[in-house]
Parts: sequence; C-alpha cells; structure tokens
Amino acid sequence: MTRKFYFTILLSAILLMGFAGETSMEKKSDDKAINKKVKELISKMSLDEKVGQMTQVDYSAIKENLDDIRKYYIGSILWGGDTEIDDLSPAGWAKVAEQLQSYALQTPLKIPLLTGIDAVHGHNNVNGAVIFPHNIGLGCTRNAKLVEKAAAVTAEEVAGTGINWTFAPCVAVVRDERWGRTYEGFGETPELAKMMGAAYVKGLQGKSLAANTSILSCTKHYMGDGGTTGGKDQGNTEIDEKTLRKLHLAGYIDAIKAGTGSIMASYNSWNGEQLHGHKYLLTDVLKKELGFKGFIVSDYAAIDKLPGTGYKEQIEKSINAGMDMAMIPNGHGKKNSYLDYITFLKELVNEGKVPMTRIDDAVARILKVKLQMDLFNKKTVDNNLLAKVGSEEHRKVARECVRQSLVLLKNDNKTLPLKKNLNKIFVAGSSADDLGNQCGGWTITWQGKSGKVMDGGTTVLDAIKNSVPEKTIVTYSKDGTGAEGYDVAVVVIGEKPYAEMFGDKQNLALSEEDIKTIKNAKTAGIPVVAVLFSGRPMLIDEVLKDCNAFVAAWLPGTEGQGITDVLFGDFKPVGKLSHTWAKNMDQIPLNKGDKNIKPLFPYGYGLSY
Ligand code: BGC
Repeated sequence: MTRKFYFTILLSAILLMGFAGETSMEKKSDDKAINKKVKELISKMSLDEKVGQMTQVDYSAIKENLDDIRKYYIGSILWGGDTEIDDLSPAGWAKVAEQLQSYALQTPLKIPLLTGIDAVHGHNNVNGAVIFPHNIGLGCTRNAKLVEKAAAVTAEEVAGTGINWTFAPCVAVVRDERWGRTYEGFGETPELAKMMGAAYVKGLQGKSLAANTSILSCTKHYMGDGGTTGGKDQGNTEIDEKTLRKLHLAGYIDAIKAGTGSIMASYNSWNGEQLHGHKYLLTDVLKKELGFKGFIVSDYAAIDKLPGTGYKEQIEKSINAGMDMAMIPNGHGKKNSYLDYITFLKELVNEGKVPMTRIDDAVARILKVKLQMDLFNKKTVDNNLLAKVGSEEHRKVARECVRQSLVLLKNDNKTLPLKKNLNKIFVAGSSADDLGNQCGGWTITWQGKSGKVMDGGTTVLDAIKNSVPEKTIVTYSKDGTGAEGYDVAVVVIGEKPYAEMFGDKQNLALSEEDIKTIKNAKTAGIPVVAVLFSGRPMLIDEVLKDCNAFVAAWLPGTEGQGITDVLFGDFKPVGKLSHTWAKNMDQIPLNKGDKNIKPLFPYGYGLSY
C-alpha cells in the first residue's frame, strides 16, 4: 500500500467515524426531545384521554358514530380483515383516512390517530393496488434486499392512501403446513424469519419513520403462532422454552434491531397459557430482556378469549401482562364493545387493579411512536404518493419478486424454458385465468375470492398471450381436454383463496379437478408444464410423473408476467424452497433437520436452467 493511499483511507475512516458520531448524536437529541414531549403530553392527560390512546376500534364498529373518536379520545382505528369501506379506490381510502383524522384533531391535545390495516402483500384492500407474492414466496427468493424494496413500495402505497400503519410483517416460523396461515410466514426456519422480517421492517419504516413514504410496521404474531400442535390456528404451542426461543423468538430479535415500532400479540397459547395474558413473554422477555421500546397491540378481539369471569377481568389480565393497546371489533350495544373496554379499564385503574404506572407506560410507548412518525406535523394524504398507487414503477418491483419466488421442482429434457416462437400453446387449469386464485387470501376481502377480484393485474393466460408473437395460437381450456396437436400444455392448478382458520386442512391433496386436468392434458401426448398456486407445499407426488416440468409459484399476486418471464427463459429460476416438501400426509409435520424421513423435496431445493 502506498503512503498516499494509506492516508486517504485513514482520512476517509476518520471522516466516516465523525459522520456516524454526528448522526447517532442527532438521534440521541431527537430521542431526548421526543421523550420530553411525551412527558409533557402525559402530564396534561386525564385518565379518559390515556385510556382512549390505548383503544383501537374497528372502523365497522365506529363508522356510524365517528364523533366517538373525539368524545373518547380514541388513539387508533383499524380496518380488520373483513371490514370494508364503500369506495375501495385509492382516493376512496384516502378520503376516509382524512375524515377519521379530522375527529382526532378536534380533541384538546390534537393527538393524531394511528390508522392500521393488513397490507400484508401490498396494499391488498385497495382496488388497483399492486399485489405482491405472499410471504411464503418471498421466503423462496432468499433476497432480503428485494423484500425490503417490496415493503418500501407497499409503504408508499399505504401512505398514499393516508393510512399510517400496517399489521406486517408476519414472522411466523411455520412448522406444520396444515396451518391455514402457512403462506403468511416466510418459511419454516428462524433464519428466514430473521432475514426477511428485518428487511420488511426496514422497507416499511424507511430510514426514518418521519418520512412521508414511511409507515409503521407491526411484527406479528408474538409468538409461537407457527408452532401450534397439528398446525391448528390459534392453537397451543407445546414446546420447551429453549425450543420456543430458538424457533419462534429469533425473528423478533432482528425485527426489534431493525426498529419495528409495534408488535402484535398472538392468539395462540404456549403450553396452555394464552399469549395475550402472558406477563413473562410480553413484559419480561419482550420489553425487558429484548429491550423492545415500541408498543404491543392485541390481536382482533383476542383479549375476549382469555380465561376469566368476564371482559373486565380479561382486560385486567392482559393490560397487567404488558398489553399496550387493545384491538376491538363489535359495535354499540354489543358485548365487549370499545365503550365497555373504556369503562372497564377506567374502573380497573380507579379500583387500583391496574396501576397508573402501567397506563402511563402504555401511553408513553404509543405517543413516542406517534411522535417518531411525526404524525403531529404530517399531512394525512400526500397526493404525489396517492397518484403512485398501482403504478407501473411499483408493478415492476412486484414482477421481480414473482420471478425470484418461483421454485422449479422438475424440468425433464429441458422442457423449460419454452420457445417464444412455438406455433400452438395450450393453456389449461382452473387458475390459469383467475386473478383471485393467483392472489390468494387477504386480497380485497379477508378470505380473498376466485375470479377478477380487482382492477389491474395480469393472469398467466394474459401473460402468455403478451409474451408470444401474434401468429402463435394460444388456446385456453379449463379442464385440459382438447390439447392434441399443440406444442405444449401449460396447466395452472392449485388452492382456492382462504385465510386464517378457514385454511386449516388435514389433507393437502390436490383437488380431483386439478388431477383430472393434468391427466387430460397428458393424454394428448404433448409436454406438460404445471404451475401450482398454493399457500403451502401440497401433495403432488401423484401428478408429478404426468408433468414434464413443475413450477411452485405460491400465491404470486397481480403480476403474472413475472411467471412467463421465467417460463419463456427471459429470467432463470432462482427460487429455493422455504419449506420441506412432504411426499404424503404421514410425513407432516416435516421440517429441515428432521431425521429418517425422505421428503419429496428438501428445504432449499430448486432447479434452474
Ligand atoms: C389476524 C391478524 C390481523 C388482525 C386484523 C386477526 O384476525 O390474526 O393477523 O392483523 O386480524 O385484521
């Protein structure tokens, strides 16, 4: 090394250290200013105002009484899975978001609302938004930078509609794919939850939560959601603490390091004790041991499920265990409405059953995040961002995610890539021209649905037509009959949309219809390329022999062109399995490292050209 070079390096290092020092100092003084502001606000707040901040109400429960936001100092509104608004366009959502904030701004302290939604694969409740692959597919990309980009695009779309918080990422480490939420996790290993969860948080929250393109993340569901016995949704995770920590805590450690501002508690129990009342896991481990400085929100009506004599006792248990905000559905007059919660929590404080210090801690955590987000100064809707919802620029990122998430499981005799100048392409299967099946659950509605679920987007059939010259004949037959004389059959099969417990299944066999479609195409004696849309590995052993090539495409979302990019060889397959793929139900649960069982395909498997 020359002397000059050595000194240049040294000088750069010193400068860099200087800058790093300055930014961390700046951060410290920001923190100080925020903490000071939090204290100031709390000193001015009545118990009603404090309890209001700890209340999150579902829009459907309050929409007829929006003035309750002002009257009860409500801190947050959410749109739960099946809560809708009348106009699902980006502008429609922005209008509602602005309207809600206007009530919060009429309170004496003008504390803005956190507005939360399940933007779990893009801004998926918005008609015309770009829909990304569900997390199971993102896990197969093994590309954390790309996942960060995807989350940043999602944040822009959410922020564009004036909403400031998403209940994502889900870092469930899914150990049993009978679970209906398998696709919401990045895969079966803690390594994937760590890598992708942290990237996702960074993408959503950006370099600074205060930026107009950033939204608040909510890492969920804490914890052990993917480890329940039998893969039962909201079930019991029966493992020792060492295993719980190794498998299910890991993702949270990295999400906290990445700065996640909120964490959602999980419906499940750990060895019989429900997480929503678990003081050891919520307070001792998460807040004290891991140093989590954000706030914990309950899951939808989950406090109501705790043991106890009634709602009041359940609230006492949960808040004292460390819950900071309760997510409350239901409306006026019904059991367990937000008005009951507010009344009971105030009573509990007045009776000395919930200490004021606990209330102040919860409120401080919530206000701190609101200040970090600069909500007090931010405009609710940024019209430049609103205009970008569903834009080409955003779709490009999703298309790249689709390409990289595909896992090529079989490719005999180089069936793939297909030539673009084939004369006749036969397309078959119930999902080849079905945007709803391609997107899966949590798309426009909670459960998702088959068919043209939203505006925009490209099905595989459309994408094939777009990829070949005009002279190529592309024919679609749903059941796969009539393939004789074609150069190749592309058969798109798979699961129909579902979410949460509605997806719990004891048998992961393909439908009779799908098996028949492949057989029909096969009898024509032409090469068969199967593309599977599914929220988890399914039992494909039986049909695999009838397919010359097989692609696991997961739930890829709106950008079907990403699939044909790979089928026609513009991009090579790079995806690697995020789950071990079992041969039959007897092998399930089956995970990386399990001995003495030979899976159909191991974790990490994936061919290329
Ligand atoms: C789910 C959460 C979701 C919440 C709000 C619950 O049923 O478990 O993942 O964020 O609803 O929609």
